[in-house]
Amino acid sequence: MKGKLVVFEGVEGCGKTSQIQLTQEWLQSLKTSVVVTRQPGGTELGLYVRKLLLEVGSHSIANTTELLLYAADRSQHVEEVIKPSLSEGAIVLCDRYTHSTIAYQGWGRGLDMNLIHQLNTIATSGLESDLTLWFDVDIEVGLARKQRGGNMLDRIEKETIAFHRRVQQGYTHLADSYPEQIVRVDASLSQEAVQQKIRATLTAKLKAWVD
Ligand code: TMP
Repeated sequence: MKGKLVVFEGVEGCGKTSQIQLTQEWLQSLKTSVVVTRQPGGTELGLYVRKLLLEVGSHSIANTTELLLYAADRSQHVEEVIKPSLSEGAIVLCDRYTHSTIAYQGWGRGLDMNLIHQLNTIATSGLESDLTLWFDVDIEVGLARKQRGGNMLDRIEKETIAFHRRVQQGYTHLADSYPEQIVRVDASLSQEAVQQKIRATLTAKLKAWVD
């Protein structure tokens, strides 16, 4: 595989989606081949799965079912989008990946971490991110941003503050455990400052990947 997988992670309202767009524009201006995608919902099948997972409806979803649906979305996405894009040498900017499952289903829902690691490995056939940018912001700030956005909150955003706090603890723990792979970005800063940090990090990584 010639390309690189760069993942954007964080709690609700951390601002990663608009930063992905700015990063895409910047990389394209450098004539770099870049693919922007997301989990869940980066494939045709994934769009159905995303709807099932996030729409607030009358259907209930047991915690293990939720875990399996995220894994199913990921498996299809890795095969259909990520691996082919990496083979073509693209930098893949992915909105969420395996660390989301550890933070949300592991820390948030309290599901068994061994099971989660096994499912992540099966769904990705062991493909890990080359770099994960963790957008660290207080959950209250993030959720307030979401509410100001005017959209209805989805099934996961509507979870309790205690749930979101556990997810945030999960990300903090992951960043402490994998300092080589996960870079913390202070997402409480201005959009410009956050973008500067991403560019500086990626510039250093791009150089290291070429050497
Ligand atoms: P987003 O695309 O707007 O970030 O929404 C995706 C939601 O799905 C978000 O609440 C995080 C959640 N999620 C999980 O709970 N587990 C996962 O593995 C992934 C990829 C996302």
